Amino acid sequence: MATMESLIGLVNRIQRACTALGDYGGGDTAFSSLWDALPSVAVVGGQSSGKSSVLESIVGRDFLPRGSGIVTRRPLVLQLYRIDGGQEYAEFSHLPRRRFTDFAMVRKEIEDETDRLTGKSKQISPVPIHLSIYSPNVVNLTLIDLPGLTKVAVEGQSENIVQDIENMVRSYIEKPNSIILAISPANQDIATSDAIKISREVDPTGERTFGVLTKLDLMDKGTNALDVLEGRSYRLQHPWVGIVNRSQADINKNVDMVVARRREREYFASSPDYGHLASKMGSEYLAKLLSQHLESVIKARIPSITSLINKSIDELESEMDNLGRPIAVDAGAQLYTILELCRAFDRIFKEHLDGGRPGGDR
Ligand code: GDP
Ligand code: NA
Ligand code: MG
Repeated sequence: MATMESLIGLVNRIQRACTALGDYGGGDTAFSSLWDALPSVAVVGGQSSGKSSVLESIVGRDFLPRGSGIVTRRPLVLQLYRIDGGQEYAEFSHLPRRRFTDFAMVRKEIEDETDRLTGKSKQISPVPIHLSIYSPNVVNLTLIDLPGLTKVAVEGQSENIVQDIENMVRSYIEKPNSIILAISPANQDIATSDAIKISREVDPTGERTFGVLTKLDLMDKGTNALDVLEGRSYRLQHPWVGIVNRSQADINKNVDMVVARRREREYFASSPDYGHLASKMGSEYLAKLLSQHLESVIKARIPSITSLINKSIDELESEMDNLGRPIAVDAGAQLYTILELCRAFDRIFKEHLDGGRPGGDR
């Protein structure tokens, strides 16, 4: 499985290099089709449904701005890289030479970088922030945090913000490579869920949507969410996962992640309603479920990814030839990086085939 993991890691790196080159979303070059073939996980839902909190729990680190109102105002493309040991650190693509080891500073930089484009306002911007986290405690994953869907513009926002956010969210989740983490709060009726509404639109069969129910601890006494969690209210191809994140009071008191995860585990283990589902609930289980799914998606796509990569290698080699030297330093370096990554993918993929049992699965 070590090779599978390095394949996912490489996929992440290729994705980042393609994005850095500015090819994401535009044109019909081999790179944009390559990006489209590579899976990533986008988090969608109504404002304050708990999206950023869920993302933090998956990563196991406190580093995202959270709270009531519109907090996430630019997409955050978060790439997780598993490293074998050593200290965890984070890097922004807009600050390439700075290593963050203090995650409170990561949060501050996300806030500052958001404000750099939007001002200290309630406005949003579609320009993503790219953050990479290197850690022995993460699984290789690309996650995208998005502004929350809303119903009305509030003071300080333009009238079309509701539609702008919806369009921005849709642009991420309509791509077939997108795995959708649809977040709905348990203290609102699932029939009114913005996450389900928009996911259903782009993924009617529910094959790439994971339903996540947050705020189970905030439901009215005497009610429970079993109809949703057991798939009777709204059926998806994947099982629903219930979550208990930190409350605003916990955030204000700086309750840390380790404590929050332990409390979440205890909540499910001791719950009269959900005890029988305890092993399939919570953030840690969700992280595992997602990485397993990602692995199977990548495995299934290896043939098409490999052929795209070979196409990219050809295209890159001729592009490098055409550019000759001297070439624009940044673009040239990025192209070279992608080329090296594609070659590495190709090599590891072949090793993966040679190392595996003939025709068999691991
Ligand atoms: P986002 O706007 O969807 O990204 O939501 P946030 O993650 O910023 O959370 C919004 C607010 O809801 C914060 O004050 C969180 O503390 C709170 N919250 C999120 N999930 C839960 C949960 O499961 N239980 C409780 N009690 N509060 C939660
Ligand atoms: Na919020
Ligand atoms: Mg948020």
